[in-house]
Amino acid sequence: MANGQALPREAVVAVIGAGAMGAGIAQIAAQAGHRVLLFDSRTGAADDATRKLGATFDSLASKGRMSADEARSAVARIEPVHTPGACVSAKLVVEAIVEDAGVKRELFGDLERIVAADAILASNTSSLSITELAAGMKHPGRVAGLHFFNPAPLMPLVEIVRGLATDPAVADALFATAAAWGKTPVHATSTPGFIVNRCARPFYAEALRLASERASDCATIDAVMRDSGGFRMGPFELMDLIGHDVNFAVTKSVWEAMFNDPRYAPSPIQRELVAAGFLGRKSGRGFYDHAAGAAVPAPQSLVAGQAPAHVAVHGEPGLLAPLVDRLAAAGMAVRRRPAHPALPDGAIDTGAAWIVLTDGRTATARSGATGAPNVVLVDLALDYAAAKRVAIAVSDRCDASASDVAVGALQKAGYAVSRFDDVAGLVVMRTVAMLVNEAAEAAMQGIATPADIDLAMQKGVNYPRGPLAWGDTVGAARIAGVLANLAAHYGEDRYRTSPRLARAALTGGRLGA
Ligand code: NAI
Repeated sequence: MANGQALPREAVVAVIGAGAMGAGIAQIAAQAGHRVLLFDSRTGAADDATRKLGATFDSLASKGRMSADEARSAVARIEPVHTPGACVSAKLVVEAIVEDAGVKRELFGDLERIVAADAILASNTSSLSITELAAGMKHPGRVAGLHFFNPAPLMPLVEIVRGLATDPAVADALFATAAAWGKTPVHATSTPGFIVNRCARPFYAEALRLASERASDCATIDAVMRDSGGFRMGPFELMDLIGHDVNFAVTKSVWEAMFNDPRYAPSPIQRELVAAGFLGRKSGRGFYDHAAGAAVPAPQSLVAGQAPAHVAVHGEPGLLAPLVDRLAAAGMAVRRRPAHPALPDGAIDTGAAWIVLTDGRTATARSGATGAPNVVLVDLALDYAAAKRVAIAVSDRCDASASDVAVGALQKAGYAVSRFDDVAGLVVMRTVAMLVNEAAEAAMQGIATPADIDLAMQKGVNYPRGPLAWGDTVGAARIAGVLANLAAHYGEDRYRTSPRLARAALTGGRLGA
């Protein structure tokens, strides 16, 4: 296996820790045809997990996902064992025990004395340093991260994590093995949060910042991220699903491992939720009330405004072109005009207020800078042609009847319109800009290739588009501009631009693969 090839099917796999992750990994390995030894230090845990896996295989067979024969032989390949010493024949050991570096290192030390010299020792840790777990071992080269996502049998991504001492052939062998098991593997170096848990931080962090600024309520922010950003779940519902204890711990561990870099700072809102025991779905309450029968709060949408008969688009609409097409398709005559001297290309004149794409400044700052008081900013959408909703911010200087016309135009084009307080960068633009920035920084540091970063975010957390590819669609210069405006607005180092992004913004170079 240390020749970089996939583990042969006849090789034995040992899984240590028969909890949520270990059981899932045992299922995957058994389904791939390996004999699996399952060990847990809690008496009865491995037997219980094996019994439950039998039921899982039966249910897969009843749904037609595997034959009854396959189900029987898959469970027969899993053997609960009652001492680590019973794992002597394993060619690959995957540990999925408690997330504690000391306990994991002790386990690896024991395993090194048990298994053959060419056996691979892999950790499913989501936050600990692989370099640190391998340190002090006789053969640190055979230790690597094999990081599955929860639920392991369903989530395709596996991060193959190399510590400083990991033998590249070991990482290649794990990569080939994960691929042979039907997973989507990516290579990563051992840095805090690896790829996904690091690059996803802004998805939660920017939403928490918006909540702390009382930009809007959680249900509305979630709806905008789904209906406009194209994410499968909004940040607050996702945090409630993950559990605030887990999400706060991951945020804190990345922040601490980065020596308290403000880019990764947790939110006091998370600490309060954890302190209160409002952990999300599992405790019945988080940002939302999950009690049986509790009402699901509806997102805020503005009541219908009066649409104009025609609009004028100044300069090239660029990203807003599909939005302009929707205005035209809804019956508003679209007139083309030369670029406006003080407003960006694609500014839409509704005759009463301007509709302009956010650039990271507030609408009030923009109306001050342009001398046009009636500015309504629209948020970024993944795809304006398909989006069901857009978020807007209205300048404090804007006349109420003027903004009603802009809202009416958007509504007539089929968008539900959610008005946010006049915060910098709105919701999707600000979150995407920070996701792109983090991915660019990770790529710059060589944590993974740009292609693997984009793949990991799509396969590990279901993002509708890889962040680097998204950055290329929006434009590196535009993303860098949004970050510069956020940095100026907040005066915080948190929004500093990654050198890789800054470079692409200057040269027009690509961020993604
Ligand atoms: P869990 O708490 O469900 O299971 C852990 C199991 O390990 C328990 O059954 C426990 O009895 C056993 N155990 C603890 N110390 C042991 C030892 N020294 N020797 C043998 N068995 C021992 O935990 P879960 O969620 O399955 O997590 C396990 C590992 O997977 C952790 O490192 C975690 O960071 C990682 N992980 C967890 C994910 C998740 O969403 N739960 C996702 C990806 C990774």
